[in-house]
Amino acid sequence: MSWREFWNGTHSIYVNERHRALHYDRIAKDIAALVPSREALVLDYGCGEAEGSEAVAACCAMLYLYDAAPKVQESLRLRFTHNQRIVVLSSEALEAMPDHSLDLFIANSMIQYLNHAEFEALLDVARRKLKDTGRMVVADVIPKEANAIDDAKALLNFAWTGGFLIPALLGLVSTFFSDYRKLRDEIGLTRYAPQDIETLFSAHGFSAQRSPKNIGHNQTRMMFVAEPA
Ligand SMILES: C[S@@+](CC[C@H](N)C(=O)[O-])C[C@H]1O[C@@H](n2cnc3c(N)ncnc32)[C@H](O)[C@@H]1O
Repeated sequence: MSWREFWNGTHSIYVNERHRALHYDRIAKDIAALVPSREALVLDYGCGEAEGSEAVAACCAMLYLYDAAPKVQESLRLRFTHNQRIVVLSSEALEAMPDHSLDLFIANSMIQYLNHAEFEALLDVARRKLKDTGRMVVADVIPKEANAIDDAKALLNFAWTGGFLIPALLGLVSTFFSDYRKLRDEIGLTRYAPQDIETLFSAHGFSAQRSPKNIGHNQTRMMFVAEPA
């Protein structure tokens, strides 16, 4: 199984509905805070179920959602069909989007599933689709030295404040026996040192800086804000 197949299949990465709801609420608030203006055109790339997208769309002119998994695209289309400010893109529609049209290109918690060549190809897409005044935000990047204990601690902290500590403890046990864990051991997750990722941004026409804050609950992971150089 590949990561692509994993994300297109049935999986349970949230320990319960409360975890899922709090996750999407937090992601949406953090993304909304990055939207530069109400006129902005925003793309959430690798968006997943993006359940908080209506809150993001309320802060911008148009929110484009793109996820490589066909099943995710289908469910996004069903969920947001009534919202005029949300457009779910297919790969073809993303390719056909006019160059230099976006103000913000977000990739949250997805580059760990790409190898270096795939991440570099993504940087080229973002560079092409962004306006010269636009920004790319790549967040939830796993640092080179990170380990599963950091992720577990961050989840338990989120669960403690969110009132789902017991389900989170049980969830950690079931993660240990899950396909996610097997794939993580077999294929791995791509990790970066800050300097390496800044060098890649720069090789693809961006000037990037690490932000002091990450998107989402895990502040041991990293966020980078990049502007066309
Ligand atoms: C951990 S989820 C993150 C979802 C969302 N960004 C969030 O923060 O909740 C990773 C998502 O990236 C998507 N993905 C993986 N590889 C991708 C690629 N090459 N292009 C677009 N989406 C991809 C997966 O289908 C999955 O929905």
